[in-house]
Parts: sequence; C-alpha cells; structure tokens
Amino acid sequence: MKERTLSIIKPDAVKKNAIGDILRRFENAGLTIVAAKLTTLSKAQAQGFYAVHKERPFFDSLTTFMSSGPVLISVLEGEDAIQTNRRLMGATDPAKADAGTIRKDWATDVEKNAAHGSDGPDTAKWEIGYFFSEMDLPNRL
Ligand code: CMP
Repeated sequence: MKERTLSIIKPDAVKKNAIGDILRRFENAGLTIVAAKLTTLSKAQAQGFYAVHKERPFFDSLTTFMSSGPVLISVLEGEDAIQTNRRLMGATDPAKADAGTIRKDWATDVEKNAAHGSDGPDTAKWEIGYFFSEMDLPNRL
C-alpha cells in the first residue's frame, strides 16, 4: 500500500556528512522524498516530538542530543514506506543492526543512532503533522 512515513537524519549522521548517502538509499529503495527541511530543533521541540518517551531514563539525554545540531527531516512516500524505511535503518541498537543498514554504517550507539523512522501508520501521521503542515505536502497519496 502506498503510504508516508517521517524520517529524521539525526545530528550524528549530519555531522558525518551522510545526508546525501542516506537519501540515496531511500531513493534507491523506491521511496520518494515529498517534503524535507534541514533545521536545528530546540530542546522543547525535541521533547515534544519524543513525549511518548518522557518517563524513560534516557529522555533528557536523547532530547539534548536531538537538539545538539542540524537534522534533516523528511516525508518519504511509497509502497510500504514505513516498513521499507525501518528495514533500511536497521535495529535501534546499531550493535544489533544488520550489515548494510543505515544504523550499522553511521550510528554511534543506541541513543546516537543516525536515523529515526515512524514505527506505524498512526505514529507516521502524528509525526508528519508535528513537523509539516498541509501546505508543505502534495495533497494526494
Ligand atoms: P528513535 O527511533 O528515534 O526512537 C526513540 C529513540 O530513543 C531511539 O531512536 C534512540 O535514539 C533512543 N533510545 C532508544 N533506546 C535507548 C536506550 N536504551 N538508551 C538511550 N537511547 C535510547
């Protein structure tokens, strides 16, 4: 099914100059980048985005990291975009990620893990809406 997902290339991967290589992987897998912005999140914006994790012990450190430098936020569209993106990223913990995945190639550790991708259709809708307005997006899937 054609669908959309939210991707964030995190500050660690941006610092490694990996934006181009990572976007190339999305495109090579048949995903289309339909909206994108390069920006630096405030701590409050990162806290809002990760609010679901606010009770976790890593919440403060994660949101400090996510607001530590530029990120590339994009909306990817294509058949099974959510699962395709998750397959390309690999496991959350790069130590457990398969060879050839984004996290295996660019992540530092389980927190500084190079990329974020929505984990399901409801999350994708909420996450896309957190960063993009209707005006930013082509109106038909
Ligand atoms: P992400 O896919 O963006 O979703 C939540 C993020 O929390 C995750 O990637 C990691 O950056 C971070 N995270 C998840 N588990 C841990 C952990 N055990 N310790 C530190 N950070 C974590």
